[in-house]
Amino acid sequence: MSGSTITPWVVGNWKMNPMQADAQQLIQNFKGLLDITPIESAKCHIGVAPVTLALTTVQSVLSDSNREIYTVAQDVSRIAGTGAYTGEVSAELLKDSQIDYVLVGHSERREIFGETAQILNEKIKNALNAGLTVIYCVGESLEQRESGQAEQVVLQQICDIATVVEAEQWHNIVIAYEPIWAIGTGKTASPDDAQTMHAQIREGLSQITAYGKSMAILYGGSVKPENAVELAACSDINGALVGGASLNAESFHKIALAFANTK
Ligand code: PGA
Repeated sequence: MSGSTITPWVVGNWKMNPMQADAQQLIQNFKGLLDITPIESAKCHIGVAPVTLALTTVQSVLSDSNREIYTVAQDVSRIAGTGAYTGEVSAELLKDSQIDYVLVGHSERREIFGETAQILNEKIKNALNAGLTVIYCVGESLEQRESGQAEQVVLQQICDIATVVEAEQWHNIVIAYEPIWAIGTGKTASPDDAQTMHAQIREGLSQITAYGKSMAILYGGSVKPENAVELAACSDINGALVGGASLNAESFHKIALAFANTK
């Protein structure tokens, strides 16, 4: 037991996977596993982030679940409301479809799609103003870690959003620390290294917001059933953002179980 009073979060980031029929099967399988081995909502928040096209399908499969499972959007527009913005999905449109959670700042969005701190701030501001909860991802590259800049980079990413998040809105932010070199590589930060960074993030948050001590800070980067228990045992790791392993219902269920039982 880590002794933390923060309810853990386990969120599956499906990224640009899978096809509709497989997405439906995946969520059905996961729901089936929860029927056999339930995980109390009070012990772990659980969410899945499918592609935009599958959000409502997944949501409808989950509508008769025995427990709440959040449907999380992987992205949101930097533009609010509705209007002539081809290809965009705004925070208000997500909310209108009962989507209450969104990922912002994932390193794939920052690196592949060129999302700068300014763009991310626009997204976060819109999402929070529309009443969404934001899972804000931060993390350093291998080069930054090897040159001793990891902490500075990550804390800067936290400070970046402080200009747009209003005092009470910190309550609606979950942080996900995902070292870029650990994403999809099979390399996980050691529990000690992850805990050290999480403690620094918590310290940084505590200087910015009164909610800092109670905010969930998730770890992401090659989380799997084999390493979930030792990560969950770290006092400042309050859950996981899971990519590859969330595409397998059994693995994802085991990870959620590990956090629910270890915390
Ligand atoms: P991974 O991805 O678990 O496949 O490393 C994590 C993420 O990118 O959120």
